[in-house]
Amino acid sequence: MTKKKLIASTTEHFKTIFQNEPEAIFLSPGRINLIGEHIDYNDGFVLPAAINKYICFAVSITFDNEFTLVAQDLNETYRFDWREALKPTDKMWVNYLLGVLHQLKERNFSLKGMHIVFSSTIPMGAGLSSSAALECGFGYVLNKQFNLGLSRQEIALIGQQSEHTFVGVKCGIMDQFASVFGKKNKVIKLDCTTLAHEYHTADLKKYSILLLDSNVKHTHLTSGYNTRREEVEKGLSIIKNRFPSVTTFRACTEEQLNELKNSLGETLYKRCHFVVNEIRRVNEAVYALDRKNIAKLGQLMYETHDGLSKEYEVSCEEVDFLVDFFRTEKQVIGSRMMGGGFGGCSINLVEKGCEETLFKKISQAYFEKFGIQLNRYKVKVSKGTSKMKKKIN
Ligand code: GLA
Repeated sequence: MTKKKLIASTTEHFKTIFQNEPEAIFLSPGRINLIGEHIDYNDGFVLPAAINKYICFAVSITFDNEFTLVAQDLNETYRFDWREALKPTDKMWVNYLLGVLHQLKERNFSLKGMHIVFSSTIPMGAGLSSSAALECGFGYVLNKQFNLGLSRQEIALIGQQSEHTFVGVKCGIMDQFASVFGKKNKVIKLDCTTLAHEYHTADLKKYSILLLDSNVKHTHLTSGYNTRREEVEKGLSIIKNRFPSVTTFRACTEEQLNELKNSLGETLYKRCHFVVNEIRRVNEAVYALDRKNIAKLGQLMYETHDGLSKEYEVSCEEVDFLVDFFRTEKQVIGSRMMGGGFGGCSINLVEKGCEETLFKKISQAYFEKFGIQLNRYKVKVSKGTSKMKKKIN
């Protein structure tokens, strides 16, 4: 569905339900990540970008204190008074939103009720951060409509806090940041320690970005993700103990790690080895991208995949298959799993014009092996969360 159609259908749905035009329309994008996986919570750097897949919000303020949230795609509605004590519910989509409101209430903001309909073109559970788009889009809506004066950075941090507290995933900041700060044709090099960021042109020369959705929903993500966080924290404390000057993974060398191989034990060593090398790879990838050395960027992506699969162990058989299949296709210059893992999408740099042929070939092989239909998304690097200008009829 195009952006235009998404806006039209969300607006129509709002009118049908609330018998009125929405006051405003907002778009909140999903994200890709070129490289820098699982290191946003490890003091690393990441290289994400917002994409042209969105959650659209049609909204109006009401004159009472009741919020009516309508998830158009799920055909579900949730009503509540925002002044009540907010607690996580058994509906996940509601929790993302309540978590944001909870954060605002903690900051003593005063609101009013709202009518909100939202609908999405970001596939769920595919690793494209539909959750960050939902949290941050909602935060952005409230900020604009109630003039809360929050910065984009605060909105991203509130989204992340919502996920920690109401959803239970101890995520890093990458997804929220990319969704809110995205710019057309730019990837964001984000320093996850300071949140300093710079934009780099996403000029991939003769290659385009092809996302392959394994259709394996990442149901183990929450537990697997949180376990990884505990493991690297443990690893870092062992490193710090031996080398007090190493306060973050950024300052840790491979030699230091190797010296600690025994004390870390096999699992922690692997996790930490991945982190240290992934931080290096992001810096090398940015250097390569700026020099339009796409072959180097692609090679780093393959290395990242190997690390995620064998050392960090967050991939799965199906996504490994997709990456391995493309290794021998000469029109593909880079491929790796993307996002939290345990399913979801692979991100691939493929020669423009070959997408169709390659997709046919790989989807057939994938179906033969797993009996699962492969999906693909051709995405463009786009701007971050925004309010649409009202058309004057
Ligand atoms: C999920 C999290 C992010 C990041 C990625 C892995 O998408 O929300 O913070 O850690 O996984 O890079």
